[in-house]
Amino acid sequence: MRVADRVTVSPALTVSGGLRVPGDKSISHRYALLAAIADGRSTIAHYAPGADCASTLDCISALGAIVSRTPASRDHEPPLVSIEGRGVRGLRAPSGALDCGNSGSTMRMLAGVVAAHPFLSTLIGDASLSRRPMRRVIGPLSEMGAVITAAPDGRPPLGIQGADLAGIHFAPDTPSAQVKSAVLLAGLQATGETSVLEPASTRDHTERALTAFGAIVTVDSPPASLRAGRRIVLQGGQRLTSCALTVPGDISSAAFMAVAAAAMPGSDVSISHVGLNPSRSALLDVLRRFGAEIDVTIEDEWNGEPVGRLRIRHGRMADLVITPDEVPEVIDELPVLAALGTFGGSVTVSGAGELRVKESDRIAELVAGLRAMGADADERPDGFQVRAGTRLTGGTVHAKHDHRLAMAFAIAALGASGPTHIEGADAVAVSYPAFFEDLARLAQRREGDPRA
Ligand code: S3P
Repeated sequence: MRVADRVTVSPALTVSGGLRVPGDKSISHRYALLAAIADGRSTIAHYAPGADCASTLDCISALGAIVSRTPASRDHEPPLVSIEGRGVRGLRAPSGALDCGNSGSTMRMLAGVVAAHPFLSTLIGDASLSRRPMRRVIGPLSEMGAVITAAPDGRPPLGIQGADLAGIHFAPDTPSAQVKSAVLLAGLQATGETSVLEPASTRDHTERALTAFGAIVTVDSPPASLRAGRRIVLQGGQRLTSCALTVPGDISSAAFMAVAAAAMPGSDVSISHVGLNPSRSALLDVLRRFGAEIDVTIEDEWNGEPVGRLRIRHGRMADLVITPDEVPEVIDELPVLAALGTFGGSVTVSGAGELRVKESDRIAELVAGLRAMGADADERPDGFQVRAGTRLTGGTVHAKHDHRLAMAFAIAALGASGPTHIEGADAVAVSYPAFFEDLARLAQRREGDPRA
């Protein structure tokens, strides 16, 4: 599906209707990486359709896993991915660089996989990924025994000479699910025990996915008084068993439609088959605090991941303050929560300096874009504030090659008095290629309004 570089979003009155969002990006990466080092053939239904997860498939295929995609039976259904794994430490030396595209998750988690393989892997990425910090994985993986080179400042490209790794007990300074996962993936292929003590809990898909593939992982929660995250422990040398997996819908993609529904009076949106893992669903508590009415129905569990239905209706609009301890669990939703502040109810975020090293500097670019649309917003070193009371005018904004900014601007645009032209809107292809089609279907405009 090709998305236009420039998309115009017209104001809307409400958003209403039902949808199913694409497969979860975080979970898809993990299933593909684990399938590549499992014994036998795994299948992954509803694999995320975006470019990021395609980068992961390309990388594991360059490393010798046999990847095939069976065409979908219905329009809009992503194909079934099947992966013939090579077993733990069984990948082959690639003939060229491993291109991670725009995907930080691919680069960081793949680093953990290849660090245990006795050959040189070169991990490269696009201009945005080439600016992102990698010391956070270089440190622990080097301590385990890999020899890693990087550009100045620990940026990509990474040259990883894999080795026989030894397990470590690692306590990162910054909470990061990608770093935790890189260390666990390396630890699985190392000798001895590996543990990660998180400074705050982050998404736990790797732990759940390892269990689905048959590994034994233990997770201890420290006493609440310690204000720390979980400690995850695994023994090296375990084998993984291939399996048949289905990926839940991505709650971070659903977040855009959920925020639109919370923001616009009269809105009522239902989202089916969405992942409701508690380490990802803090957004729902935040939206309830804002005043939205949210019904959550957990209907099933797929490979250890809870899945169900969400219904979001507009309610009140209260001021929102997002505190530093909440940030790790809503990190990807902060751009769209900033958009929420443009509808009424101010939004203040602190302790989110990590946003500056995402696909773009998400503090600077978010505030610049919303201001270009008429918002009363400003940056803080580690966050931002969007003040209520100023209706957006619309205008022209640039998504700065960042999928979540393109979608956050589109949601803010629904509440503007005039149209918004989003340059670089094709960035949505990274995680949600059908985003603008789905939004157009849900957005209800004035009767007789011919605008899309
Ligand atoms: C992700 C973890 C988060 C998140 C990213 C996906 C993951 O990054 O922002 O979009 O799949 O583990 P960090 O680990 O850098 O916090």
